[in-house]
Amino acid sequence: MNNYLAQTDPDVSSILKNEDARQENSLELIASENFVSRSVLEAYHSTLTNKYAEGYPGKRYYNGCEQADAIESLAIERAKKMFSAEYANVQPHSGAQANMAVFLATLTPGDTFMGMNLAHGGHLTHGSPVNFSGRTYKVVPYGVRQDNHLIDYDEVHRLAKENKPKLIVVGASAYPRQIDFNKFGEIAREVGAKLMADIAHISGLVVTGHHPSPIGICDFVTTTTHKTLRGPRGGIILSSLENEKVLNSRVFPGVQGGPLMHVIAAKAVAFGEALKPEFKEYMGRVVENASVLSETFLSRGFRVISGGTDNHLVLVDVSVKGLTGNDAANKMDEAHITVNKNGIPFDEKPPAVTSGIRLGSPALTTRGFGKSEFKEVGNLICDLLENFHDEKVFERVKGSVRELTQKFPMDKFRL
Ligand SMILES: Cc1ncc(COP(=O)(O)O)c(C=O)c1O
Repeated sequence: MNNYLAQTDPDVSSILKNEDARQENSLELIASENFVSRSVLEAYHSTLTNKYAEGYPGKRYYNGCEQADAIESLAIERAKKMFSAEYANVQPHSGAQANMAVFLATLTPGDTFMGMNLAHGGHLTHGSPVNFSGRTYKVVPYGVRQDNHLIDYDEVHRLAKENKPKLIVVGASAYPRQIDFNKFGEIAREVGAKLMADIAHISGLVVTGHHPSPIGICDFVTTTTHKTLRGPRGGIILSSLENEKVLNSRVFPGVQGGPLMHVIAAKAVAFGEALKPEFKEYMGRVVENASVLSETFLSRGFRVISGGTDNHLVLVDVSVKGLTGNDAANKMDEAHITVNKNGIPFDEKPPAVTSGIRLGSPALTTRGFGKSEFKEVGNLICDLLENFHDEKVFERVKGSVRELTQKFPMDKFRL
């Protein structure tokens, strides 16, 4: 397909080829990224991108939706099966839009809701003042304890009793530990709040039982489909049947127009993959590999936030080595190791600088990296950061990255 594009539009084609090469030649450690399978990519490339299908299966505003209905129904069935949920909406274009639809279903402008502080690991859509969530509603943020970096459930309880929120949002973008959905459930019930879990990061682990499920505890569950779940970029909403009508109407026409049917086809493929036993094995390796990464940083004298990880991500404080998160991430990028700078709880540096980096194991685990490779990768990063201005070390690390990427060619190892 790309050969045709090379003739018709060499400018775009060469950018796409460069991106293929970047992914092939670098170590992808961004915790929110993954490599989709060839089958997911094939569905994503399908002619369903041409189809308008506003509405839902059997109730569309356009004709010619037979295949759109079939694919969306299949995606819904698989999503419900994956999470043992009564209801699934597979149309949200992204995680942010899934969250927006739930907010529209539960809140009116000016209402109070609680969400995890962005600076403590929450997401923009959980009440940041620069996001619709913080601009439209009154936000009461909660965070983690300073002594152990675990969610401060006592604070959540106290704030909920004081502020009587209509909605409590639980979930995070940079929280390496297990979340106690039951505790949130008790608090929400006590104060009469609805409860939404945003499991964007951990949804793959929830599917395979590597993290407890919020289904049956939380009124609403949202997730992205492209992180640990290893699907195309997008979002879904899960709930009980009683919320079907309101959630469907808040997604469309509430926040979206026509669904991205080709993405829904790719979601169906990814959900089919996640229902297979191999996915459970994969997720086990994801958790194991993140733990190896965390242990490696600890053994080299770095501070790992919360002292380790229970899931797929590791948050490392690089300030103990005299670096900022920004400097560390940029240096690693030069050596073709890709991460993102990330604020750590109680960070004294601004968000564009930060004291930390966030790393995740999903993508390289998909690429076939096991425990010994993750240990090697961890040590390479430590070598690089501890010898920040040493050209020789830099060249050695870059060489080792090249060897590792050549040993695990994408074509051979990913699904
Ligand atoms: C917890 C959480 N929720 C929502 C989102 C938003 O997803 P998207 O980027 O698809 O809008 C993210 C993305 O990083 C996330 O980490």
